[in-house]
Amino acid sequence: MIEQAASAKIVLGIDIGGTGIKGAPVNVETGELLCERVRIDTPQPATPEAVGAVVKQLVEQFNWQGPIGCTFPAIVHNGVTLSAANVDASWLNAPAQDILAQVTGLPLKLINDADAAGLAEGVFGAAKGKAGKVLMITLGTGIGSALIVDGKLISNTELGHLIFKNDEIAEKYCSGKIKDDLDLKWKEYTQRLNEYILHLQLLLSPDLLIIGGGISKKHDKFIPELTGLRFPVVPAELKNDAGIVGAALEAAREFGVL
Ligand code: BGC
Repeated sequence: MIEQAASAKIVLGIDIGGTGIKGAPVNVETGELLCERVRIDTPQPATPEAVGAVVKQLVEQFNWQGPIGCTFPAIVHNGVTLSAANVDASWLNAPAQDILAQVTGLPLKLINDADAAGLAEGVFGAAKGKAGKVLMITLGTGIGSALIVDGKLISNTELGHLIFKNDEIAEKYCSGKIKDDLDLKWKEYTQRLNEYILHLQLLLSPDLLIIGGGISKKHDKFIPELTGLRFPVVPAELKNDAGIVGAALEAAREFGVL
C-alpha cells in the first residue's frame, strides 16, 4: 500500500457487480486509490451470504479495520436491497447492509452502484464543481442512473426502469448489453439511446448528462451523434473506479470521516 500521512482520510471502497467484486482503500479527500484494486469473481449463485464471504475476503486481504462503503446494482433503501433485476433473486428484500456489516464486523454503508458512480463524478470527475441538475446514466448490463442537484444526490432514481418503448423498460432497449445481444451497429444503437435521452430530457431537463458504464470507453462513437438535446453530454471520467470511490465517499460522510 502507498504511504499516506497519518492524518489521511481513508475508507475501503467495494464495488459489487454481477461478474466481479472489486475493492481498494480510497483517499476520500482526493479520490485516489491507495493501491491497485483487487478483483474477485462474484460467486455463483451470488447469494447475500456467498457475496458476504467475498467482501470479508477483501477486507482481510487489505487487513482493513475502518469503515467500508459498498455498492450494489439494485435499489438500496435504508440498507435493504429492494430489487434484483440483474442479480440473484435472493437479494430481494434482504437486509444486505446489516449482513455485510456483520460478516466484516466493521461499519459498512451500502449504496446503489450508479448512485456511487454519480457521487464520485460529482466530487472528483466530470461534474466536479458543477451546480444545477446533473444526471448520470451508466450503460452496462442494465442502465443505472444518478441524479445530483446542486451537489446533493437524489438516490435510487432507477431511470433504467422507465417504461419506455413498446411497454418495455429502457434498459431492455438501449443498455450496453442490448447493443451486444442484438449486435446493433453504432448508428442503430445511437438512435435508440438518443430516443431514451430525449425522453429523459422531457421529464427532467438536466443541465448536464454524464454517460458511464463499459460502453462509455467508446464515447466518440456515439456522443457526438446525439441530437436535439438542450444540455451537454460528456463521458464519465473516473471509469472503472467510480463505484469504489463513490462508495468510499458515501461511507466517509455517513461515518464522519469527512
Ligand atoms: C438496476 C439498478 C442498477 C443498474 C446498473 C439496474 O438493472 O435496477 O439498480 O443501478 O442496473 O447496475
